[in-house]
Amino acid sequence: MKRLFVANWKMNSTRAQARLYARVLGERMGVSSGDVELVVAPPFTAFEETRDPEGRWALAAQNVSSHREGPFTGEISAKMLAEAGCRYVLVGHSERRHLFGEHPPTLAAKIARVREAGLLPIYCLGETEEERITGREEQVLASQVATLEHDAGGPLVIAYEPVWAIGTGRAATPADAAQAREILQGLLSGRRDVRILYGGSVTAVNAQALLQGSGMDGFLIGGASLDPSGFASIAGLP
Ligand code: PGA
Repeated sequence: MKRLFVANWKMNSTRAQARLYARVLGERMGVSSGDVELVVAPPFTAFEETRDPEGRWALAAQNVSSHREGPFTGEISAKMLAEAGCRYVLVGHSERRHLFGEHPPTLAAKIARVREAGLLPIYCLGETEEERITGREEQVLASQVATLEHDAGGPLVIAYEPVWAIGTGRAATPADAAQAREILQGLLSGRRDVRILYGGSVTAVNAQALLQGSGMDGFLIGGASLDPSGFASIAGLP
């Protein structure tokens, strides 16, 4: 399976900035993405500008409604995302869980909506610092994976993002990431077609060591993905 690199812009970039980003990333990539898969998750408003007419990278949404349609002011449905040319959807990002109070039943419903629309979930999980210090990492990951219990199946991307590493400049060590990967592989052993990514303070400087030392299938990148050239370097593009 190809390695997967996902740029999560979070609430950054205007349409004008997205247009420039797509141009620079396209120039950097040349004719093809080679043997890696690139995905960009812009804000909804910049989908059009971020899309690559040549299909060298795919689009992801940073969020989706847990409902199909109806009176849910401010929400965007999976069907709308599919129509807008999206291929992946982030579900369960730490910021959604902790800042917006998204709980397991909501996340399970979101994954169901994503599948119904023919999109692919990038399911994010990871322990907090306190959970890690108190030796509960494995238990926490198991309960987060349990959210997938009723998932209809199909290709799955897991993004292991320890909360203490997100946006802190303090990435997990390759050994820590490798250990989490092993736990997750054990928990997901009954499933086929699973890719496990690492996320949390990945930069062009630590990317190679993290990738090689952890055995991860790629990265979910926040801050460092806002620079198209940096994103391309992290993905190992020449
Ligand atoms: P970061 O964010 O790379 O800025 O730490 C990662 C993420 O939140 O997906």
